[in-house]
Amino acid sequence: MEVNTASDAHTKQDTYAHRSSDQNALFVTGTDTEVGKTFVTAALAAWLSLRCPEADIRVWKPVQSGVVRGEQGADSYVLRMACGNRETEKEIATFSFPEPLAPWIAAQKAGVEIPFERLVEVGKERLQSCHFLFAEGAGGLLVPLTQQHTVHDLIAALGFPVLVVARPSLGTVNHTLLTISKLKASGIRVQGVILNGYKPEQVRHAKENAAMIEHFSGVPVLGCLPWNETPYPEHEVGWKEWRCKMAAWVERYIPLERLKRLLPSMLQ
Ligand SMILES: Nc1ncnc2c1ncn2[C@@H]1O[C@H](COP(=O)(O)OP(=O)(O)OP(=O)(O)O)[C@@H](O)[C@H]1O
Ligand SMILES: [Mg+2]
Repeated sequence: MEVNTASDAHTKQDTYAHRSSDQNALFVTGTDTEVGKTFVTAALAAWLSLRCPEADIRVWKPVQSGVVRGEQGADSYVLRMACGNRETEKEIATFSFPEPLAPWIAAQKAGVEIPFERLVEVGKERLQSCHFLFAEGAGGLLVPLTQQHTVHDLIAALGFPVLVVARPSLGTVNHTLLTISKLKASGIRVQGVILNGYKPEQVRHAKENAAMIEHFSGVPVLGCLPWNETPYPEHEVGWKEWRCKMAAWVERYIPLERLKRLLPSMLQ
């Protein structure tokens, strides 16, 4: 991993401070729930935090359900630790509901109506207050957040570019192309796709699927990530080592040129 010198850091800090556009954010959506959005976002946030130690990298989970903040399995906990622990989980997960249901229904069960316009403001404010913001959706693109709005509507209102995380296996071409076509139809920028979590016997299929996705969508598959046996640490002290391991893992499986394509504002 490249190490920045102190004078580099000073120059970069100034440079980042002048870049407060939607280019400094990435919204990570998926073709489904459990495809690895959190895992991939956490790995990318760990990598970028180590690569740009002087930059203020933050993570945002607008709405999570099925967990309570502070639980080790909560996305807000994993994202916070992956990013180096700068914020509280309350800041990271704007809304958190215990029922493992789509956000709109989970909110209803908790007696809450998610204020969509406020959520958009929170996202924009969070972007303004840092150098780079990773946002993670909930489930797939058309998951309802309110009676009128889906995750797709949130992305469109924020104007953030998107990374699509998808499974590597059979069925992924259809799901990924549908997701991309919906995004493109709304004029949302799709930076790329990551096929996540292939097992050794799936390598060939993952590569074939990646080629088909690129051919039919024109969107680059920036990486195929294997299943990774490095577990999330059980104790806070283990996260520093986890971040280093995951950063090396990201560099191993996503070439730097593609990371630059994914995070152009941070990597010149
Ligand atoms: N490449 C990987 N290697 C090992 N484990 C992985 C990998 N990708 C995902 N996982 C594991 O698979 C499970 C689902 O992944 P994850 O929580 O990231 O999905 P998600 O898309 O964020 O789901 P949700 O819609 O609930 O937010 C988690 O236990 C996660 O640790
Ligand atoms: Mg998640």
